[in-house]
Amino acid sequence: MRSPRPEDSDRPSAEPGPNRSPDVDGLLPSLRGIVGEAHVLTDPDAMAGFLTDWTGRYRGDAEAVVRPRTTDEVSRVVAECARSDIRICVQGGNTGLVGGSVPPARAEAADPRIVLSTVRMTDVDEVDTIGRCVGAQAGATVESMDRHAGAIGLSLGIDLASRESATAGGVVSTNAGGTRMIRRGNARSQILGIEAVLADGSVLRRWTSLVKDNVGYDLPSLLAGSEGTLAVITRVLFRLVVPPSAATVAVASVERVENAIDLIGAAPSAGLTIEAAELMTEAGVALVADHGHRRPTATPGPFYVLLEVSGTGDIESAAAELLGSAPGIVDAVLEPAPARALWAGREGHTEAIARSSSTPVVKLDISVPIRALPEAFAELSRVGSECDFPCRPILFGHVGDGNIHVNLLDVPTEHSSTVTDHVFGIVAANGGSISAEHGIGRAKVAWMHLGRDPADLATMRAIKSALDPRGLLNPGVIFGWRSLR
Ligand code: MLT
Ligand code: ZN
Repeated sequence: MRSPRPEDSDRPSAEPGPNRSPDVDGLLPSLRGIVGEAHVLTDPDAMAGFLTDWTGRYRGDAEAVVRPRTTDEVSRVVAECARSDIRICVQGGNTGLVGGSVPPARAEAADPRIVLSTVRMTDVDEVDTIGRCVGAQAGATVESMDRHAGAIGLSLGIDLASRESATAGGVVSTNAGGTRMIRRGNARSQILGIEAVLADGSVLRRWTSLVKDNVGYDLPSLLAGSEGTLAVITRVLFRLVVPPSAATVAVASVERVENAIDLIGAAPSAGLTIEAAELMTEAGVALVADHGHRRPTATPGPFYVLLEVSGTGDIESAAAELLGSAPGIVDAVLEPAPARALWAGREGHTEAIARSSSTPVVKLDISVPIRALPEAFAELSRVGSECDFPCRPILFGHVGDGNIHVNLLDVPTEHSSTVTDHVFGIVAANGGSISAEHGIGRAKVAWMHLGRDPADLATMRAIKSALDPRGLLNPGVIFGWRSLR
């Protein structure tokens, strides 16, 4: 047994009495003492932006929004909340799409809670050029970490359209995928270390640039994708990647989804490495064009595939040859990377869709085995015509990963569960997943049984109970609000 270290006595400890009732009035002065008066927001106008999610579909209530600056402050805030029996909803860049970043409305759940925002925790460390990694506080954006890495010729292995707002803590806690997933893997596979505050306020720290380190359970991997339900991530150590020395972006309008899949399959034998592979439809491209983006090809197709490819030698010619010999290509355009205008047409989908729907968009994020993708895509495209209420599907996504974002526009709110059931039925029948990269949040809780069997769900609950026995952290996310009380 090790001897006690001096810092042990300084560790915050939360020892609430049994059946203690929440004490908000007692808590707020303590929180002000920890983070400063200016960083405990209670004014409704000042809190509003933290209580509504990006989609506008989820609006919540909280007693306060608390904005710590350091891990130590997070630790003390969490310990105070645990002592006062106040729940904590953790928020990064608030770019999540499943309602996991905001608390529920008071009408749904009355227990007092605060929002703990990492908005002030934006430090990015100096890049470790030998260990090829960079540490960052949870609130650092993807864009800022990538900029730091880019200054010495490396890059972050994660990229996504919300890069200017999405944060280190957010992408790891949701195990984000994004557009580089096909080449670099998901957020979980990009982390070397993690620092997080546990539900009693103590700090868990695994921080090493070692790529081989098999001492016990892989706790950073467990926290990745746990959506803030097991601990509050405060810092992340990301591995960095060497970007390709040259890359080309092609967008082709194609006759069938199969044509996009065949192109991806044919790329390696053309000497090309796929850096990204995205699928769009004419409905989505037309919508995005209405919102000011350029159409990618002169001749439209029912589908479009965007490929970013790298390689050695003349990649532009290799890509042109690939497109010239592949079946089902209607038209194509090629531009050297970064080809921002071509990417903007793909990345503009989320915003154009949100702006064009008369009701908050039902956003579903599914994956199916690539072989099942053409059939599943066709079935999902028919969902709108099979409903007896307004429902306009726009599908797009990371085709190389079998991941399709199913956006259902104009759906009356009272029908959102019905249409979700319908979509998830198609996904289950095709052997797919109800959440490919956005997580469960509050939006998919009711459908967890479609994604995991009873033993699996029970194991997840056991882990949650072990790390957060009183259900203080991100209540309602993954497990439902009442599940652990
Ligand atoms: C994307 O791939 O653009 C994001 O996952 C956002 C979305 O699904 O709308
Ligand atoms: Zn996506």
